[in-house]
Amino acid sequence: MKIISVVGARPNFMKIAPFCRALAQEKSIEHILVHTGQHYDVRMSEAFFTALNIPNPDVHLNIGSGSHAEQVGKTMIEFEKVVKAEKPDWVVVVGDVNATCACSIVAKKEHVRLAHIEAGLRSGDMTMPEEVNRLVTDRLADLLLTPDRISNANLAAEGVSADRIEFVGNIMIDTLESQRGKAAQIDLSSLISREALSENILVPQLSENNFAVMTMHRPSNVDSMETLAPLIEFLTTEVAPNMPLLWPIHPRARKQLELFGLWDKVVKNITLLNPLGYHDMLRLNMGAKLMLTDSGGLQEECCVLGTPCLTLRWNTERPVTLREHGGASMLVGNSVEKIRAAYQDVLNSSRAPRRPELWDGHTAERIVSALLKHA
Ligand code: UD1
Repeated sequence: MKIISVVGARPNFMKIAPFCRALAQEKSIEHILVHTGQHYDVRMSEAFFTALNIPNPDVHLNIGSGSHAEQVGKTMIEFEKVVKAEKPDWVVVVGDVNATCACSIVAKKEHVRLAHIEAGLRSGDMTMPEEVNRLVTDRLADLLLTPDRISNANLAAEGVSADRIEFVGNIMIDTLESQRGKAAQIDLSSLISREALSENILVPQLSENNFAVMTMHRPSNVDSMETLAPLIEFLTTEVAPNMPLLWPIHPRARKQLELFGLWDKVVKNITLLNPLGYHDMLRLNMGAKLMLTDSGGLQEECCVLGTPCLTLRWNTERPVTLREHGGASMLVGNSVEKIRAAYQDVLNSSRAPRRPELWDGHTAERIVSALLKHA
């Protein structure tokens, strides 16, 4: 059996690592790894291949940045050549980035069976590019590999027949479980001095449970001045004076802060870090008093680690991570009043780890079995 799997952007890499490892155990499977190149900076891409022992991609499409149409269009043109040449039995895509959607369309048009890892997540928010990518991918997939039972229910409600759905658990937690020991050994002070941006005015001494970590890069939070400015005001005047606030900054967020003239204020009050490697980010999450984030993956990691998490979005495709389902995360959108209230609440709460069903570190093996079963 021949499988092509696809990665494109940072959140894909921690999902593909355990899958590559599990495939390598199965001698009957030939595996070709394709990197579309949507993320290309060393810190956004190569660093994860090295840290997580992901084999070098067999094919690199070098797509790079661009508008959504440019990224999806270029990826389709290049990926079609690969599928025509390799004639795989399966194309396996992960997550919800532009590479996921583009390669799904190509696979189906080439009559190749398509499997989607992390199927069935729905935010219901059609302004999110990721939601469009999820819907297209799941509509086309022959095998839908879901991380939780809520996703199964979403797919059933959309009319997907049960024989195409396999509930396998969350593959990102395979990576978390295999790497948390290594992350635990990282010393916080050396992490900060190694990764702080040189522009920083604040490089604090950290101790366990006395600092906050934030990440924020989604268009809905950083693309308009009206949204971003009050968020920065709150973070710099109400969170940062209380405890050190660390922000490993995504290139898109940095660009927007500079554009809106907010960069100086941020540098003076928040400790900015380079985009972090997998283990460094996990280490910060393990020691943080709280997380503020608009990332999907961090909501899930906070759930398993029990880090109180303020999710800077109005909706989430990962409701299993929310407090009402027993998780560690609260949806606070980008309204300062809501964030402030939740912030006060989490200051008085402590770490409460929770493990949703099948988030047990063995999802990749279940996926390989499902692919063999559905071959
Ligand atoms: C993408 C994903 C998003 C994911 C995020 C994680 C889609 C639709 N979105 O969003 O789901 O949460 O990745 O990072 O696929 N850039 C660099 N270096 C890089 C990559 C990007 O400087 O290596 C800059 C470029 O200016 C680029 C911008 O970041 O235009 C945005 O990158 P892009 O991949 O288009 O989307 P993300 O916002 O990263």
